Amino acid sequence: MHVHKFEKIWLTFGVAMLLVFLTVIGVSAFYLGNKPPSCLATIDPEKVDTQAPFNEPGLKKVEGKEWDYELVYVASAFAYQPGEVEVPFGAKVKVIATTKDVIHGFQVAGTNINMMLEPGYISEHIATFDKTGEYLVLCNEYCGVGHHMMMSKIKVVE
Ligand code: CUA
Repeated sequence: MHVHKFEKIWLTFGVAMLLVFLTVIGVSAFYLGNKPPSCLATIDPEKVDTQAPFNEPGLKKVEGKEWDYELVYVASAFAYQPGEVEVPFGAKVKVIATTKDVIHGFQVAGTNINMMLEPGYISEHIATFDKTGEYLVLCNEYCGVGHHMMMSKIKVVE
């Protein structure tokens, strides 16, 4: 019966090594600059819902800034808030997003808006919507079973 015991130990050791390996890979990827440059500020992911501007996701007109609107998104497995938004044609918009749980890949198809949302960080991207139509907001980072269902819509209207 000692054999079983040793097998168990080796199995545990194997799993532990695998975890160490994955951690090292993950950590080095992090230090190699996998962190999005758009991450400017930090936030407590547990308090996203109660902190401005994430307590009110959606489009807001702003004054006295280099952009006309701020479009705030909260990502969580497996949805974006808001699920749909209308943006005036030609508007210069600062997209501000964060995640409440895991890493999500915020991408607006057909535009160059593509940013990694990491827990604890706020990601931003300024874009001008100079083409009318519907844009799909997708998640391009695998985040779990509902990953493929994660989407939102931006309607650019005149
Ligand atoms: Cu969120 Cu994939």
